Amino acid sequence: MSNNSEKQGLHKSVINWYPGHMAKTKRLISDELKNIDIVYEVIDARIPYSSKIKDIDNLIKNKQRILIMTKKDLCDINITNKWAKFYEDKGYNVLVVDLKDNNDYKKIIDLTHEITKNIQEKRKGKGLKEKEIRALVIGIPNVGKSTLINKITGKKSTNVENRPGVTKNLNYLKTNEGITLLDTPGILWPKLDEEKVALNIASTGGIRKEVLNLDEICLHILNFLYENYPNILKEKYGINDNDPILMYEIIAKKIGAVKNNEINYDKVSEKVYNDLVGEKIKGVTLDKWQ
Ligand code: G4P
Repeated sequence: MSNNSEKQGLHKSVINWYPGHMAKTKRLISDELKNIDIVYEVIDARIPYSSKIKDIDNLIKNKQRILIMTKKDLCDINITNKWAKFYEDKGYNVLVVDLKDNNDYKKIIDLTHEITKNIQEKRKGKGLKEKEIRALVIGIPNVGKSTLINKITGKKSTNVENRPGVTKNLNYLKTNEGITLLDTPGILWPKLDEEKVALNIASTGGIRKEVLNLDEICLHILNFLYENYPNILKEKYGINDNDPILMYEIIAKKIGAVKNNEINYDKVSEKVYNDLVGEKIKGVTLDKWQ
């Protein structure tokens, strides 16, 4: 279709850059787990299945956890709530939050103290002072871990090298909330063997744009909208058809990406991708509820 399509399809090898690095991250987490009181498992409310780390339960064992579903403001809350209920039924503590909303992140702090009350009470029984609760923040890239940490610490930026191949030093961050935070010491990935998972993560900005075949992502987004959110597709682009060529034509005309009767497919793909990643399309949850 375009230069874009010459890029490799969205295959495991595109995003699973350094399996050795991921193994190291997991080892660091396992070693540190004994010092952790609670895990904040952060996932994106628009992809409540796709953004979950596949073997997280093996990794964090039976630690207390809060499943924090971020970007509530961008998701389809009806679908996301069904996923939230599904995880609650598994016994997780779940919070669906908009991290840009100050009241929402306070809910995380309150729930942390509620859940860890038993630890403090045990200490009290032994005549010890209350302790700082140590929370490990864990999740795949782009789910909002740094935003969450910045909110709780009240700092602007804590994001150390957040790219594959770079393992961070373990770095505990003090806060004024009686909680000390530890960021994921590297990159972790979800269920890479499922193509839809990779497409959903790519569509929401979790994979570097430069390695993506944007035509593939764009078609994934348009088809998904056609099947699940036809009103958004109609409203945003004036489309109520799922013929790919026609969809590209309509969008190209709308955004001025036609020259001498030639459609600039790259421009259309980029536009649709940017619309979803850049929060111009809201109210969408990409993991269907079955
Ligand atoms: P990470 O550490 O897990 O990789 O994620 P990070 O906090 O960097 O968040 C990724 C992007 O998601 C950021 O946008 C951040 O602002 C946004 N974000 C996080 N939580 C929420 C939320 O609840 N709602 C909305 N609407 N956005 C959220 P960015 O464009 O990459 O950077 P920025 O300039 O906005 O900070």
